[in-house]
Amino acid sequence: MSKVITLNEFIISRQAEFPYAKGELSRLLSHIGIAAKIVNREVNKAGLVDILGDSNDINIQGEIQKKLDVFADERFIAALKASGECCGIASEENEEVVTFEEDMPNDGKYVVALDPLDGSGNIDVNVSIGTIFSIYRRISPIGHKATREDFLQEGTKQVAAGYILYGSSTVLVYTTGRGVNGFTLDPSIGEFCLSHPQIQTSQIGYIYSINEGNYLHFPIGVKKYIKYCQEIDNQTHRPYTSRYIGSFVADFHRNLLKGGIYLYPETESHPSGKLRLIYECNPMALLAEQAGGKATDGRGKRILDIKPTDLHQRVPLHIGARKMVELSETFMAQYS
Ligand code: AHG
Ligand code: MN
Ligand code: MN
Repeated sequence: MSKVITLNEFIISRQAEFPYAKGELSRLLSHIGIAAKIVNREVNKAGLVDILGDSNDINIQGEIQKKLDVFADERFIAALKASGECCGIASEENEEVVTFEEDMPNDGKYVVALDPLDGSGNIDVNVSIGTIFSIYRRISPIGHKATREDFLQEGTKQVAAGYILYGSSTVLVYTTGRGVNGFTLDPSIGEFCLSHPQIQTSQIGYIYSINEGNYLHFPIGVKKYIKYCQEIDNQTHRPYTSRYIGSFVADFHRNLLKGGIYLYPETESHPSGKLRLIYECNPMALLAEQAGGKATDGRGKRILDIKPTDLHQRVPLHIGARKMVELSETFMAQYS
């Protein structure tokens, strides 16, 4: 039997790659792994206990928060706080930056942006959901409270990013800017074990993922690209397969492994798209690029180069196999 490498062993073995690292980032990542296990436990028993349903709160996006969103938010914040390395958190569930100055010194070097539960509309129906995280080095002085500016950095400045997918198995995938690695939770030992080393995505895939119910509201370039995906052409393996779960983490993970493109373009109801730049698009864009893929706004702008102006800003997203993203952009440039 080949040797099992646990997430913590892997994190520590990689620490040496960062010559000035003193273990802070490693500790932070380990604590994210712990929170993932706790949230996973609750996700798995969601159908058994009274944790399903609405929490009667409206989050700052005006959407009804599910109980599990609130639980995941609290668990991840508690774990990041416990690490001692994180001085501030920006989360989908909190309008402003969360800081801990009341009961902790502000000497953590890192800030973390979070979508604690992604795809939460799928909780009640046993469909995969996820968590997305993005880690930055703070720019505010150590010893002071974290600020919004710590989070309004371009995605290129991320020191690490990843997601947890609570699916048919639970998987944690992350990057520190040197490739992408995936770990599957072995429930019998309660450890994430390296299962997907050095993930590389296809240059061209055969899956396209988009909420086609919004078709009439898409930019014409996206409509033309969808029609291209549906055309018959044996040489280019078309028509492509259409797959859309409605949980970004799950759709992204499938496409990363199988090869495909995920699009959430601007629509009438969401003129900047639906997904949030800081805690949805940037972390996934870093993962996509690190796996050899690409992520843009569909209009020639690399997601990681966008300078955020707001914690919760949204941005159109074309992400996945490099050649597919490029072709979708060609259609956008030609028609939109
Ligand atoms: P969240 O549950 O964090 O609010 O995110 C939902 C997002 C994303 O997960 C998914 O891909 C997308 O919303 C689905 O949107 P549509 O229902 O508009 O397709
Ligand atoms: Mn989300
Ligand atoms: Mn969410």
